[in-house]
Amino acid sequence: MNTHPPRHVIVTGANRGIGLEFTRQLLARGDRVVATAREPGKATALNTLAGEYPGRLHVLPLDITRPRTHAELARELPLAFGDGVRIDLLINNAGVLHSGERFGALDLDNLEHSFRTNAAGPYLLTQALAPQLADGARVVNMSSRIGAIGLTTRFGTPSYAISKAALNMATVLLAQALSVRDIVVVAVSPGWVRTDMGGEQAEVAPEDAVAGLLARVDDLSMSNSGSFFDWQGEPIPW
Ligand SMILES: NC(=O)c1ccc[n+]([C@@H]2O[C@H](COP(=O)([O-])OP(=O)(O)OC[C@H]3O[C@@H](n4cnc5c(N)ncnc54)[C@H](OP(=O)(O)O)[C@@H]3O)[C@@H](O)[C@H]2O)c1
Repeated sequence: MNTHPPRHVIVTGANRGIGLEFTRQLLARGDRVVATAREPGKATALNTLAGEYPGRLHVLPLDITRPRTHAELARELPLAFGDGVRIDLLINNAGVLHSGERFGALDLDNLEHSFRTNAAGPYLLTQALAPQLADGARVVNMSSRIGAIGLTTRFGTPSYAISKAALNMATVLLAQALSVRDIVVVAVSPGWVRTDMGGEQAEVAPEDAVAGLLARVDDLSMSNSGSFFDWQGEPIPW
């Protein structure tokens, strides 16, 4: 049962997968959500949800690799949430995984695109939105165990792994930068989730991953800022 006042939340990459499930669960518990998509006009599931929750869901454009769209989102937020309203929770969820990469055949395009999407994008968006984050807000960066250097025992998905490791460093740096305002910044892993990215064989249903993560995020305090944990609350080594 939800006992807190409605929170103002931004979810990136919300038109499918884990981001869409975050949006569903946040709306169901009474929060107000700005859900971003690269092409809002084609975000059918989000637009259906917007009809079910009038005035509580706004679907706005964002391409996380393009800082110009970060600035546009920052400008549009007062129209969506109301003048002077601050963001309580930013979920940097948008991400990309280039599959099929092999040692000896990795090219710069995949590496660069992964870095821009998975690491630079979340860092720069958080920076752009920082003035509109509430004191005491939370920033959740969707990382992955694949980005954990200390757990890496085989070669695989290098562009993804390198970019998520960079996101982990971005998380710790943002936690430092925003600590003066009591803003908690964490990196999380949703587990191996059944989405387009995770595939049909994945172990965890999006509903369970998101419910688990939201429960952990609700319990965060400043002592957790700059930490890395999974959807069941288990700490992950960097
Ligand atoms: N699924 C897993 O097992 C798993 C495990 C660990 C971590 N994660 C992380 O969890 C997050 C969500 O994953 P998912 O499984 O839901 O993936 P997904 O089903 O592939 O969805 C990815 C989402 O990110 C968006 N996106 C991709 N590039 C973008 C860009 N340049 N700008 C804005 N949005 C962009 C996609 O939008 P479009 O529809 O426009 O492409 C889509 O909404 C990712 O960060 C992922 O790395 C997932």
